[in-house]
Amino acid sequence: MAKVILKDLKKVYPHSEPKKKKGKKGAEPEKKTNLQITEEGVVAVQKFNLEIADKEFIVLVGPSGCGKSTTLRMIAGLEDISGGELYIGEELMNDVEPKDRNIAMVFQSYALYPHMTVYDNMAFSLKLKKVDKAEIDRRVREAAEILDITQYLNRKPKALSGGQRQRVAIGRAIVRDPQVMLMDEPLSNLDAKLRNQMRAELIKLRERINTTFIYVTHDQTEAMTLGDRIVIMRDGFIQQIGTPQEVFDHPANLFVAGFIGMPRMNQFDAKLVKKDGKYAVEVGGICVELAEDKQARLAAKEVPEQDVILGVRPEHIVLCADGVKGKVDVSEMMGSSVHLHVSAAGKDVIVIVPTAGGSNNFAMGSEVNLIFGGNVVHVFSKETEKNLEW
Ligand SMILES: Nc1ncnc2c1ncn2[C@@H]1O[C@H](COP(=O)(O)OP(=O)(O)O)[C@@H](O)[C@H]1O
Ligand SMILES: [Mg+2]
Repeated sequence: MAKVILKDLKKVYPHSEPKKKKGKKGAEPEKKTNLQITEEGVVAVQKFNLEIADKEFIVLVGPSGCGKSTTLRMIAGLEDISGGELYIGEELMNDVEPKDRNIAMVFQSYALYPHMTVYDNMAFSLKLKKVDKAEIDRRVREAAEILDITQYLNRKPKALSGGQRQRVAIGRAIVRDPQVMLMDEPLSNLDAKLRNQMRAELIKLRERINTTFIYVTHDQTEAMTLGDRIVIMRDGFIQQIGTPQEVFDHPANLFVAGFIGMPRMNQFDAKLVKKDGKYAVEVGGICVELAEDKQARLAAKEVPEQDVILGVRPEHIVLCADGVKGKVDVSEMMGSSVHLHVSAAGKDVIVIVPTAGGSNNFAMGSEVNLIFGGNVVHVFSKETEKNLEW
C-alpha cells in the first residue's frame, strides 16, 4: 500500500574477472545482450524512471537479460543501487535494509523451507518479527483461505504439486501484509495449463489484497493480462510505459511492436509517400492511404516522405481479390481461425483468417491477395526504428 518512485535508477555490475585480458582495441568480449559496458562494469539498468501509484499492478517485461530482475532486486534491497533514487511511500530507500522496506518477494523457484510444514513456512517471517501467536494464526489461515490451500497446511512442500508450492510461496508473502509485493517470474516453472489458471488467480488475488504489485515476466501474455501498466525493457533501457491497450495500439518502436502481440506484428519494407497532401504507404505494388488520425499526427511532426518499415498485425490483414500478392506456405488450423503463413512482398507474413463462414482450405502454394486498412498500419523509421507518429 504505497506508491513507489524510481528516479533515474541505475545498476552497474563491476567487471568480475579483471584477469581476463580486456582487448584494448577491437576484440570485444562476447556478449549475449547489447548492454552498455563501461570502465566500471556492465550497465544492466539505466535511466529507469517510473512512478508507480499506490495499489497499482505494474509489470516489467522484456527478453531475458534486459534488466528486469536487477530492477526488482534493487527495489527489494537485494542489490545495491549504483545511481538514482528509490522511494517507497515517501521514504528514500536506497540505504534501507531489505527487512526494513516492508516489501515481500516471490521468486520463480518458490524458495520454501523443505523441512517445515506449509503452515510454518507461512508463519516463519511473522515469528521472526515476534508477532503474537493468535495474530499469526489468523493471518496464516486467512491467506490459506484466499489461496485455497487450507487443506495442505500440515503438509511439507515435497508433498505438494508445483502449483500448490507456488501458492504457498505467495501465501508466505501475503501474510506479511507488505506495502509492496514483488514477484519475479512466479509462474515460469508451471506447465502451460497451470500457468493460465494461476494467472487468472493472480487477477482475483489482486482484488482481495490491498497492495502495490511489481511483477516481472518475459511473457507478453502475462504482462498484457495482469498489468495496469506495463514497462517494456530492452538492454537495460525502458522502451515504453503504458497500459496494455496503449502499447498494443501505439507501440513506440519496432521492438515493442514485435514484442507485444501474438502472433507477432508483420513487417514490410515500404515507402511513406504524400499524395495530394495525404500520407500513404506503398508496399508490394499497392498504395494505402492512412487514416485521419495518423495523417494528423504525421503532419503535425512534418514527417517527410521516406523508406519505412510498415507494421501490420496478423489480425488486421484481410484476404481479398486484389492486393499485395502472396503465396501460402503453411496453413495452421486453430479452430476459430486459420493462421496462414504467406510469402508476400519478400517477407514471411502471418495472416489470421476467421473460420466463420467461407472456405478454410488453403493449399500450399496457392495464391492469395492481402489488404489492410489505413487505420491499422504502423509506420516505423527505417533508420531509428521509432514509430513515426509519436
Ligand atoms: N550478479 C551479477 N553480476 C554480473 N552481471 C549480472 C549479475 N546479475 C545479472 N547480471 C547481468 O545483468 C543483465 C541483466 O540481468 P537480469 O536483471 O537478471 O535480466 P532479466 O531478469 O531481465 O533476465 C544480464 O546481462 C546479466 O548477465
Ligand atoms: Mg530475471
